[in-house]
Amino acid sequence: MYRVHCINNIAKVGTDALGRHFSLTDEAAQADAIMVRSANLHEMSFSNKLLTIARAGAGVNNIPLERCAEEGIVVFNTPGANANGVKELVIAGMLLAARDIRGGIEWVSRHSDDPQVGVLAEKAKNRFSGTELAGKTLGVIGLGAIGAMVANAGRSLGMHVLGYDPYLSVKYAWSLDRHVRHINDIKEIWANADYITIHVPATKETRGIISRKAIAAMKDDVVVLNYARDVLVDEQAMAEALQVGHVAHYMTDFANTYTTQMTNATVTPHLGASTKEAEDNCAIMAANEIRDYLENGNITNSVNYGMVDLGPMSTPMRLAVFHKNIPGVIGQITSAVSDAGVNIENMTDKSMGDNAYSLLDLAGMVGQETVDKLMNVEGIYRVRTIERQRA
Ligand code: MLT
Repeated sequence: MYRVHCINNIAKVGTDALGRHFSLTDEAAQADAIMVRSANLHEMSFSNKLLTIARAGAGVNNIPLERCAEEGIVVFNTPGANANGVKELVIAGMLLAARDIRGGIEWVSRHSDDPQVGVLAEKAKNRFSGTELAGKTLGVIGLGAIGAMVANAGRSLGMHVLGYDPYLSVKYAWSLDRHVRHINDIKEIWANADYITIHVPATKETRGIISRKAIAAMKDDVVVLNYARDVLVDEQAMAEALQVGHVAHYMTDFANTYTTQMTNATVTPHLGASTKEAEDNCAIMAANEIRDYLENGNITNSVNYGMVDLGPMSTPMRLAVFHKNIPGVIGQITSAVSDAGVNIENMTDKSMGDNAYSLLDLAGMVGQETVDKLMNVEGIYRVRTIERQRA
C-alpha cells in the first residue's frame, strides 16, 4: 500500500483516481508521494521514504527541483490540465481592460434604489464605453498549453495574433490557428501589440522578461496581462508606466504589496486555474502520474527526470536507478544485476540535464545486497526495486 500526503486541497476525484493500492496520510514523513498545489516546499526537508511530488498545476517554482533530483524524488506537473481555465480568465482580463464593465456595474449598484435608474443609466453610459478586441493585435509570449489556447482564442475574437516562443513544440505548433503569426524576435510584440499576455514558466531565463526596457518599447495604451507568475514582470517599472499612462492597464493574477497599489491594475487572487474543471483535471492527471510511477516506475510529465515508459509491469521486478548523467554508471548497473544471476529483459535510460534515470525489467528478483552494491557506485543517488502487484 502506497501512502499519499496532500498539501493544499486536492480534488477528491483525483485522490480517488489513485486506486486501491493507495491510501492518504496526514503525515508527510510517512508518505511515498506528496500532492501539492501552491504551497512553498523550498524549506521543507523530505523523508527518505518520499519517492515523488506531483504538482497539481503547471508552475513548479514552489518546489526545489534540483534538490529533489539529487534525492531521487521525481517531480511531476500537469501541463495543459488547467489551460482552459487560465485561457478563460485571460479573455475576461482582456474584456475588462477594453471596456469599463466594472465601473458600469458599480454605477448601477450605487443607483439601484433610484426609481429613475433606467433613464439615468442611458445618460451615464458614455462614461463606461470602451473599445473592441476585434481588429487589435494580441502578442502572446509562450505558446505552450495555455499560450496556444489563448492565441487561438484571440483569433476567434477577431484579433491579429503574434506568437513568440523559442521553444515551441511540434505538438503546440500543430494546435495553432494558421493565422497566428509565429515571430522570432520578441521586440515585434513590444512594438506592435495592443494586448500582451505572457504564458511562460518562471525560470532564471524568464524572470523579469517584461523588463523596464521592454515596457518602454511597448506601444502607448498597451494592456499587459500576467496570469503566469509575478516575477516575470519588473513591477516597479510597470507601476511607473501605469502612473504616467504609457501602459493603460495591467491585469495580473498576483496580489502583492506592489500590484495592489498600482494605478489601473486589476488584480485577481491567483484565480487562473480555480475552476472545478481545472482542479479536477489537474488532480486526476497528478494521480495518474503518481500511480504509474509508484506501481510501474514509468515517468510522464516530470520536470526533473526524463520521460520513461516501459508500460505496465510484465516481469516479477523492475529496478529503477537514479544517477548522475556521467559515463560508466549504466555498465555498473547491468553488472550488478548479472552478478545477482538475474537476466535483464528490457531496459531504458533517460537523461535530463545532469541527472538520469534507468529502468530495467528483470526476469527474476534482486535483493538488498544488489541495492546496497549499487548505492556504493559513485554517481548513483537512489535505487528502487518495484515488485509486480497482484491484480
Ligand atoms: C499553475 O501553475 O498551474 C497556475 O498558477 C494555477 C495554479 O496553480 O493555481
